[in-house]
Amino acid sequence: MNERGGAPPTMPLCAPAAQTLKQQMLACQNGNRGFGDTAPVVALVTVDLRNFLDASERYQGWIDGGLFAMNLLLGIHAQGYGACCLNWSALPAQDKAVRGLGVIPPHESIIMMIAIGGLREKFKVARSPRRGIESVMKII
Ligand SMILES: Cc1cc2nc3c(=O)[nH]c(=O)nc-3n(C[C@H](O)[C@H](O)[C@H](O)COP(=O)(O)O)c2cc1C
Repeated sequence: MNERGGAPPTMPLCAPAAQTLKQQMLACQNGNRGFGDTAPVVALVTVDLRNFLDASERYQGWIDGGLFAMNLLLGIHAQGYGACCLNWSALPAQDKAVRGLGVIPPHESIIMMIAIGGLREKFKVARSPRRGIESVMKII
């Protein structure tokens, strides 16, 4: 059952050529060893740098792209799928390797990858203790 009480949707499978591309993309990322290959779908979130005009907006792509990625994650979960952010804290060689696969044009910058898949009926998740509100918010 998903959060809305329905059966979890079936995850559409990519064509074999896309599966190969997915594995090549995952091989360029550091944090998916041991589980990345189990995700039937991998999204590559990018930002179009042509939207930003001058140096004052040099970080805006990551901010906007991060906000977009968060909403995409919520949307994926709302549809009943599971998702795992895969960081793009990458070295230039990794960035070039993904670009070499021909999946994005030169004017796009990579924000992150997201592994997406169907959820089991029952599963365990890691849970960290929450920090107190006072440690993250200061009322002035
Ligand atoms: C920006 C970002 C990048 C992440 N990158 C990775 C990653 O490369 N590999 C990984 O296993 N988990 C990564 N994580 C952690 C997982 O995506 C996930 O947040 C974590 O397993 C906790 O899941 P939950 O928030 O659903 O409880 C990342 C999380 C964020 C927010």
